[in-house]
Amino acid sequence: MSIADNTLTMDRPAERDLLEGRRQGLVGKPIDRADGPAKVSGLARYSYEQEVENCAYGYVLTAEISLGRVTKIDAEAARAVPGVIAVIVDHPLLPSDGGGVMDGPKMPRDRPKIVSYGGPLGIVVADSFEAAQAAAKLVRVDYSPEQGHYDLETHLASAEHNPATPLVPNHDEGDLEAVLVGAAVTIDATFTTPHHFPAALEPHATIASWDGNTVEIRSSLQLLNSAQSAIAASLDLKPEAVRVLAPFLGGGFGGKTGVGTEVVLAAIAAREIRRPVKVVLSRRQTAHLVHNRARTQQRVRLGCSPDGRILAIGHESFVSQKPGRAFIEPVALGGFSLYAGAARRFTQSVVRLDLPTASAVRAPGEAIGMLALETAIDEMAEKVGLDPIEFRKLNEPARDPLRDVPFSTRRILDCYDEGARRFGWERRKAKPGQVREGEWLIGLGMAAASRSNLLGESEASVTLTKDGRAVVQTDMTDIGTGTYTILAQVAGELLGLPMERVEVRLGDTDFPISPGSGGSWGAASTGSSVALACETIIAELARRMDGKPEELALQDGFATARNRRVTLSELMNGEDITALGTIRPGKNSEDTSQWTFGAQFAEVAVSAVTGEVRLRRMLGVFDCGRILNAKTARSQAIGGMIWGVSYALHEEAVVDKRTGAFVTRDLAEYHIPSNADIAQIEAYFVEESDLYANPLGVKGIGELGISGSGAAVTNAIYNACGVRARNFPMTLDRILNGLPPV
Ligand code: MOS
Repeated sequence: MSIADNTLTMDRPAERDLLEGRRQGLVGKPIDRADGPAKVSGLARYSYEQEVENCAYGYVLTAEISLGRVTKIDAEAARAVPGVIAVIVDHPLLPSDGGGVMDGPKMPRDRPKIVSYGGPLGIVVADSFEAAQAAAKLVRVDYSPEQGHYDLETHLASAEHNPATPLVPNHDEGDLEAVLVGAAVTIDATFTTPHHFPAALEPHATIASWDGNTVEIRSSLQLLNSAQSAIAASLDLKPEAVRVLAPFLGGGFGGKTGVGTEVVLAAIAAREIRRPVKVVLSRRQTAHLVHNRARTQQRVRLGCSPDGRILAIGHESFVSQKPGRAFIEPVALGGFSLYAGAARRFTQSVVRLDLPTASAVRAPGEAIGMLALETAIDEMAEKVGLDPIEFRKLNEPARDPLRDVPFSTRRILDCYDEGARRFGWERRKAKPGQVREGEWLIGLGMAAASRSNLLGESEASVTLTKDGRAVVQTDMTDIGTGTYTILAQVAGELLGLPMERVEVRLGDTDFPISPGSGGSWGAASTGSSVALACETIIAELARRMDGKPEELALQDGFATARNRRVTLSELMNGEDITALGTIRPGKNSEDTSQWTFGAQFAEVAVSAVTGEVRLRRMLGVFDCGRILNAKTARSQAIGGMIWGVSYALHEEAVVDKRTGAFVTRDLAEYHIPSNADIAQIEAYFVEESDLYANPLGVKGIGELGISGSGAAVTNAIYNACGVRARNFPMTLDRILNGLPPV
């Protein structure tokens, strides 16, 4: 039977912490991943590995110019390759560019126009992958190319200063210029960050199979509900005609938030040849067919009183984006509410470039904005003669300085103190270049972390079965973050069931709608909807025990109330019960300022001879609400910290400024850290349940770990050798010339 739905809108703080007073003892524990054994044994099938009978293979044809038109496609030789079933280059639904989650659901169909290098031209379908790939190489394409704009710095003058679709509005308060002129101590620093690729390990892959007029899409996608609408719109179908399945993802990193063109191409091909079609993008195709992070130029200006109080804070940036695209990288976001200061300016201007679409990549905004801001804060601390932590503490705001509302919770001072103690911050020398071990100059650095906390409307159903097990269903995905595990913990905790009696089913658009995996909102949003569904079931169980919910104790499959103890199955009367829980964001997000915070610390060694940087250790202390699972939370935090290191030292998608193509198209040339690059890394949490955020008090973790961690590294580099970061990544050529004489 179905019982009443339970909906909570966060218009006021939750009256009750839904996890408080429970007995099962699952929440907070370092419980192993529920999907771990399936993943390490290979039983967890990723999209390309799903077994679908009679599957043909598609290979995406891509453009070799950035801007212009296709004048002719000759596919005769390709069609003659043994095993080739079709070469589809003139279908009315063929997308001419990818779709982004911010850019409306329908993929553009402006063929034969080409709007960025590597864009889709069509698809070759064959009985084997090899035949499709070999045939694709034989397709001859003639173009009428045009000259595009590919370089941010060259085209700053054409920037739109008030873009129509900002993710965060520009903010200008107080007279920044005048306050800076009057300030005793000032910093004016300009930084650049390159394009980044999301670089998920699991390839972007899809299997499309039709049954009459409905299509089943097995694809590696983060946000299934919006994917369903986007795929439907791109194929001229109703959303109900599309089912999307994504039970396992090997990372997404933002790159799988939108629907890739390969998804729509697979569906078109499968319909044409009346067979299921599987398509995978090669790593090199992924560089152009999946979105990138905008390149940025960021100017940070700070003005302080002689005793180190911030009077003015300006963070103005230029970000790249393709013409007509909505996403604007919210560079300044992380610094909005971090420091006091009456004059405040935070702006993003967009420079239109004819490059592949820019969109969400691993902590859009904070990841790169805090590299610049927190490097400048470190410089300012030095200029006013304060320890970087003391300087930050001096400028700690009592209320959100941007919106003049209270913070829901804010324990950043505890993060500084706890981090400094654990890291041994007192051993840091204030002056750079003081510590040397042979060839290596050693430095310590720190930075603040701050990320906006988000809640997305989310539904989940929970069924308590007649034999006393729980089944959770939602279209949420687990991109490797531990969603299967934490949702089982939440349901098990509330219903008093051990982990093995809770089954979590994810990644299917037939299940209740969630916001999907993105923005670090998963645990808060979907966790809350699961708990709300459980709350309804608890009320029903209490009724059956003739008691009130608060009189009912649930543990190990037993219900106890009014001096009676029975098994759950005895209470079920031979029938399952199902409840739906829904959480909705509400006024709390306006009435309070909700963030997660942290303090990041790094120790580096810089070669005095070559400028090579080696990370020796890293430590982060984070304030991100209640921790549901100590193990998966730590993994999220350190994973984020590693990405921060990666932005500081390694990652750069290099654009060929003549052609608009990315040069560093594979993981041999696009550098991300491997084990030897990271060394010792630790993460800790100062826990506080934030009931303004949601009734579980949990907040986002993964992208908080990214925020500020790169700046801790660059500040450590400065402390080691006296070279300040300006252009990222800080490769050795950018350090070498500034090194002290050997
Ligand atoms: Mo994330 S970059 O919001 O998947």
